[in-house]
Amino acid sequence: MLNGAAFVAIAFTVVFFGRLRRKNRPSLPRSVLDSEGLVAEGWRKFGGKPFILPSMTGEWIILGPEFVEVLRKSDDTVFNAPIRNIELFQPRIMFGDIVSNPYHIGALIRSDLTKALRSIVPEILEEAQLAIPEKLKISDSKDSVTLPLFDTMVSLVARVSNRAMIGAPGCRNDKFLARQVSVAAQAIPMAQVLNWFPQILRRPVWKVFSLLAGSKDECVRLLTPYVQSRVDYAQQVGAILISLTPHPDCVKDNPSTITDLLLRYAPEEDVIDARRLAIRVVHLNMASIHTSSIFTTHALFELARLPPDQIAQIRGEIAEAIASEGGICNKAAVGKFHMLDSLLKEVGRYHSLFAAGSSRITLREAVVAEGVVLPPGSVVSLAPKPLHFNAEVYPEPLTFDPFRFSKLRTGEPGASDVRQAFTSLSNDYIVFGVGTHACPGRFFAALKMKVILCEILMNYDVSFPSGESTMPKPFAFNMFTMPNRTARLVFTKRKA
Ligand code: HEM
Repeated sequence: MLNGAAFVAIAFTVVFFGRLRRKNRPSLPRSVLDSEGLVAEGWRKFGGKPFILPSMTGEWIILGPEFVEVLRKSDDTVFNAPIRNIELFQPRIMFGDIVSNPYHIGALIRSDLTKALRSIVPEILEEAQLAIPEKLKISDSKDSVTLPLFDTMVSLVARVSNRAMIGAPGCRNDKFLARQVSVAAQAIPMAQVLNWFPQILRRPVWKVFSLLAGSKDECVRLLTPYVQSRVDYAQQVGAILISLTPHPDCVKDNPSTITDLLLRYAPEEDVIDARRLAIRVVHLNMASIHTSSIFTTHALFELARLPPDQIAQIRGEIAEAIASEGGICNKAAVGKFHMLDSLLKEVGRYHSLFAAGSSRITLREAVVAEGVVLPPGSVVSLAPKPLHFNAEVYPEPLTFDPFRFSKLRTGEPGASDVRQAFTSLSNDYIVFGVGTHACPGRFFAALKMKVILCEILMNYDVSFPSGESTMPKPFAFNMFTMPNRTARLVFTKRKA
């Protein structure tokens, strides 16, 4: 039975949440294909105060800018991310129970992978050098080619990422990569679609969809032998492999992979059954491939628009950085690609991956504006674009300035330079999210993208096909935005 005080509190909550509903509610139907436009409209109309963004997956409350700090400090007791992510991405239905012990997305990515990046650079560099000419299909007789950019980037990024994930030769198995890409491409929209159905129907709907479009099972089947070989090798060399600085003799013939790092955390049943480990790798690939492909696609389109002197500056800085490391493109050299880093950061500011992100569910009542109390179970979120186009923080925000962040570096190694880095988090830049749940894979992603872009930039000129000078409108579905898949770019081999 409700006591009097509880009744008053609930009534108050309902009244004020109801007021937010009536007052701050943009129209529903545009939300599937134009959530970004709706967010912009809501932000203008309500002056940065919380408003409801209706969506096919329920109501999202877009919080004001002061809530970036609140979510940054959040410890999941009021605004909870893990529970919200299970609802948003439906991993239980698509991947089985990988969420009760999510060891593959915890310390492994947050700390071990970041520490191991130095030894990963030579691997991903070699893979990029092998894969780029193959993907661009440029031969001695034909030095220029026009390609649909996004799909080309997806297949290139999938291969280079998997060199780090599972090593060679697995990363070159085209059948596995094609399945992995399609699983990753289906998973996000499908999770959104599943959200449209009541809980009880989600599994049957997923089963039917998997029968029609193919499920993760085939991908896992193709991947398992490669994962098994890492388990066998780890058992053979024991602790040597499962250390951050593997023994040089082991590295030479069999360098470490992210799968090796997984073995540090995997429970015994997953080590015994490599299929279970492979599911974790497929899930990690899902977080990794499309996000990085979207960035590299936008970056290349922006590079195609830059005047030759600016391209020359970026190339000059890359050449100098590599020369300063004795001609080797290692992690330290990549760390000196400040202009490329700035270009990627500007891509994230200017082109958003989502209209609303860092989604959280309230576990308790939460006050989000004067007199507005959300009941438990409300979905809240942050909108990147209004923050990223704030003229007080970013002068001339409508201009894409590739050197916006590199210009602000003082050259002194220290806090001010670090703050300008692509992977730095701030309340004004939320591409990688906020707080403890901000993207832990961002250091790996940034490194991989810089290696790929460096290889392309130093060996090819990029330009628009004749008659085209801009990128076609991106494709939006619910809260997510992807580059237009029909957009093409011309790659021309640079003369030696
Ligand atoms: C350009 C590439 C990437 C972008 C833009 C990106 C963006 C994001 C964003 C916005 C979040 C949610 C943050 C929040 O809720 O506040 C996130 C979470 C996450 N990302 Fe990334 N990501 C990228 C690449 C990667 C890669 C390469 C990996 C793995 C190797 C990865 C693994 C994860 C994981 C495990 C989480 C969940 C963290 C948690 O809930 O605690 N991401 N990412």
